[in-house]
Amino acid sequence: MKTKVSVIGAGNVGATTAHLVYQSGIADVVLFDIAEGVPQGKALDLAEAGPLWKVAASIKGTNSFADTAGSDIIVVTAGLPRKPGMSRDDLLYANAEVMRSVISQTAPLSPDGIFIIVTNPMDVMTQIAWQVSGFKPNQVIGMGGVLDASRFRTFLSFELGVAPEDIETLVLGGHGDLMVPLPRHTSIKGIPVRDLLSPERLEALVDRTRTGGAEIVALLKTGSAYYAPAASAFQMVKAILLDEQRVLPCAVYLNGEYGIRDLFVGVPAVLGKNGVEKIIELQLNDDEKAQVAKSAGAVRELLNTALTQKK
Ligand code: APR
Repeated sequence: MKTKVSVIGAGNVGATTAHLVYQSGIADVVLFDIAEGVPQGKALDLAEAGPLWKVAASIKGTNSFADTAGSDIIVVTAGLPRKPGMSRDDLLYANAEVMRSVISQTAPLSPDGIFIIVTNPMDVMTQIAWQVSGFKPNQVIGMGGVLDASRFRTFLSFELGVAPEDIETLVLGGHGDLMVPLPRHTSIKGIPVRDLLSPERLEALVDRTRTGGAEIVALLKTGSAYYAPAASAFQMVKAILLDEQRVLPCAVYLNGEYGIRDLFVGVPAVLGKNGVEKIIELQLNDDEKAQVAKSAGAVRELLNTALTQKK
């Protein structure tokens, strides 16, 4: 196997991403975590499933960044969950520190690699990863829109009783409460969704999409979503490794597109072997533009908070 995917963070999202990549057989996998034994144990468990899955690839668990050298893709899921007494800003600072540490130790070992950032708050973490890595903007991509669009498709599929694969949609903006699902760009086999659902029902599904992460947290009580986030990261890994030129909503570096400059925010992008191959600029109406601007404004504010962190 010639291609290599490293997954940083062997928690729920990281281990599930490693599972999907390994089981697909498209790359050798390195699973890294600072917790001793955890990545080794999970990697060994996955390796022992390999014969059943007929996988020809390898998987290795490690506490050493050196094992990630020469990665084609590095998926970063490392981070801290929110603990009692911790504010949202505390979490932001803590994860920004984790991100700086992980990126500064992995980027020099994989200078031609592509980062897919999953750790929340994702848009801000992606910008920090880009700054610390010194990589070109096409080499750093945040995972958010793929998940948010998949959630919107799921809820539409429940509502309409149609297969999710026949539903096309896009979600733009930051990967937070102000994300911008786009009903005007949503269709079922080409039929505009607004011909099939009332504005009220559609708005309810848009709201459910915006709070989709919180809905899972409220149910799980001890953690956050990981199957769909990992599946989303895997779709991006596959698009890049197989040079698929998929059009996927991702957090990418905008330099004037959508009227946004010097900020990572979710927009449709073409993913292929170079990471971000192209950014697609949609013709948005005034309301959609205002929503994207508001969402991007919230990301910038959070980024400024992260960058003004007191040491
Ligand atoms: N380097 C490597 N791994 C680290 C570091 C670090 N500096 N700091 C923490 N970790 C590891 C933890 O040891 C843990 O195994 O990151 C892992 C996080 O796993 P979980 O707590 O299970 O969190 P998970 O549900 O996987 O979510 C990870 O993805 O979707 C986002 O919001 C989510 O930011 C969170 C991230």
